[in-house]
Amino acid sequence: RQRPPPIPPVEAGWSPESIAQQYIVPCMKYYGICLKDGFLGPQLGERVLEEVETLNRGGKFRGGQLVSQRTIPSRNIRGDQIAWVEGQEPGCEGIGTLMAHIDEAVMHSTLNSQLGDCVINGRTKAMVACYPGNGTGYVRHVDNPNGDGRCITCIYYLNKNWGHYGTLEPLTPHLASVHGGLLQIYPEGRNVVANIEPIFDRLLIFWSDRRNPHEVKPAYATRYAITVWYFDAKERAEAKEKYRLATGQKGVQVPVTQSDKY
Ligand code: OGA
Ligand code: MN
Repeated sequence: RQRPPPIPPVEAGWSPESIAQQYIVPCMKYYGICLKDGFLGPQLGERVLEEVETLNRGGKFRGGQLVSQRTIPSRNIRGDQIAWVEGQEPGCEGIGTLMAHIDEAVMHSTLNSQLGDCVINGRTKAMVACYPGNGTGYVRHVDNPNGDGRCITCIYYLNKNWGHYGTLEPLTPHLASVHGGLLQIYPEGRNVVANIEPIFDRLLIFWSDRRNPHEVKPAYATRYAITVWYFDAKERAEAKEKYRLATGQKGVQVPVTQSDKY
């Protein structure tokens, strides 16, 4: 294992290259998890939030699907409503810009095998997810337990004032967690839990495989997040051979944003 990573850079003016090299790469090597707050900035972040709220009001969300749906109703496993977005659709331009920024961060982080033999050759569309706040979450799971090709999970959170009760807060610190909805990650082989609040303009990156079992605790307020999974070229090619099955939208591969910078 490498040295512990540095404190997250908060200064303005860091290029995507330096954020990737100085921060994301060492974090992923050390923890297998990386958090970047203020990822888009308030203006773009607000635009993405408005687009997601409009999708929700327009009834674009559907119950989250499971790969195997046998006996347990899926809402007992995951209580989110989801919509898949490519980023070119009318009214989804901000989400498209978010995806381009995440693409940039991930591609700069995986250049020259900085992150082991992970070679990205595509990703899923964006999964926009809404937990309606009725006390549902998502039980403990691994995103990619069986080598379906997904190697990196990126989640962008959109929730303002999460866990805060406004002016009552200073008097009622024990109520600070009223909204629930924490993401808890249990890194494999370590006696620790990462408690991640789904706060506005926060980007989370982690390995999608068995290194990072995680769960979403019951949420008691509307909780929005946008997830993108990146495919490792080799694992993806092997998975296509192995399964030859439709795996739903999580198996649909689209190219990352074209850029001449990486
Ligand atoms: C998922 C998931 C976590 C979150 O959709 O697979 O684990 O914080 N989401 O929304
Ligand atoms: Mn997950």
